[in-house]
Amino acid sequence: MIQFKFTCNPEVFAGKNSFEKLGEVSKKLNGSQAFVVIDKFLSEKTDIKEKTIRLLEQQNIKAVIYDQICSEPTTDIGNECVAIARKHNCDLVIGIGGGSALDTAKAVAGLIKNMGSIEDYQGIDKLRFPSVAKIMIPTTAGTGSEVTFTAVFIRAKEKKKGGINSKYLYPEAAILDPLLTVSLPKSVTASTGMDAFCHAIESYLSKKASFITKPVSMTAMKLIWENLPLAFENGQDIEAREKMLYASFLAGLGLANAGVTAVHSLSYPLGGLFGISHGTGNAVLLPYVLQSSLPETQRSMEELGFFLTGKKIQAEEFISELKEFEKSLGIPQSLKELGISEGSIEQLVEGAMLVKVPLENHPVCLSKQDIIKIYQSAL
Ligand SMILES: [Fe+2]
Repeated sequence: MIQFKFTCNPEVFAGKNSFEKLGEVSKKLNGSQAFVVIDKFLSEKTDIKEKTIRLLEQQNIKAVIYDQICSEPTTDIGNECVAIARKHNCDLVIGIGGGSALDTAKAVAGLIKNMGSIEDYQGIDKLRFPSVAKIMIPTTAGTGSEVTFTAVFIRAKEKKKGGINSKYLYPEAAILDPLLTVSLPKSVTASTGMDAFCHAIESYLSKKASFITKPVSMTAMKLIWENLPLAFENGQDIEAREKMLYASFLAGLGLANAGVTAVHSLSYPLGGLFGISHGTGNAVLLPYVLQSSLPETQRSMEELGFFLTGKKIQAEEFISELKEFEKSLGIPQSLKELGISEGSIEQLVEGAMLVKVPLENHPVCLSKQDIIKIYQSAL
């Protein structure tokens, strides 16, 4: 038995219309001046900004809104937000949106009391002082950012992604309201849903998986397997949206405690170098990484295959079913479809090998040659 610890930090408010609790939750956290990061799409297409201001005003809390997050954030965007929040002496940060808005909000909360810029804290445990309180409200299902200790930013000049990883980034509260996820376009439903699936399967296979994380990761996978196709086909299916939101939270809980593995390491440079969305990059690579990890993971894969499909199937058959599952969601089947060519593999391998912790968590030790082979097979 390995030794392990298990952390579950946010107080969770879940269910239809739970967003209405935002004011109360903010008050409970002693907020008086809130910095609110809202996804640009949501701010333009819904009335969530106005609702947020109203709910906070009812509790005499002022809101400073930043609603220009539209893709994975760069350190420049993050630093711009930090400067605004510091200028207004914000004592509470609220993130509303997908992983990009949530990660930005978490980093801002961390940097209000820690001087310097985002780049100074990318790495592990670099924040010296606790963050101000933060509330995360995911509108995708998703990154699980509402339950993790990480905030990822792209350093645009170097074309590299890097995470701030700190215990101070665990959110104090999370609001999981499925009604906020219905406006999500089909392709984003699919790619973010597969990101959550990757968190679940990678944390399940991780060397750090424990008797607490394994059932959590399995439940997340089952919910996604059963509900992602429904939410993809009919975005207004509230029950499927609700189950996806819970699955994403659980997958994030698995990730926060057992870590992700090689899929995330290999996917990072796809985002940094080519701007490929995090969920899509992970989803495309997933079957190829799983294939490369056989035969060592054969038993676990067969157990999962039985758990998800209800059939006794071989590990390789399960990987084929997974490919079909992704295909039905409109996920690209190869790196070529993402515009990647053989000539980029060397750069990708270099980038992947820098993302060390997930590679260390991977159930099979992967050499540079193994990583080259995975990218080649995914082409
Ligand atoms: Fe992820």
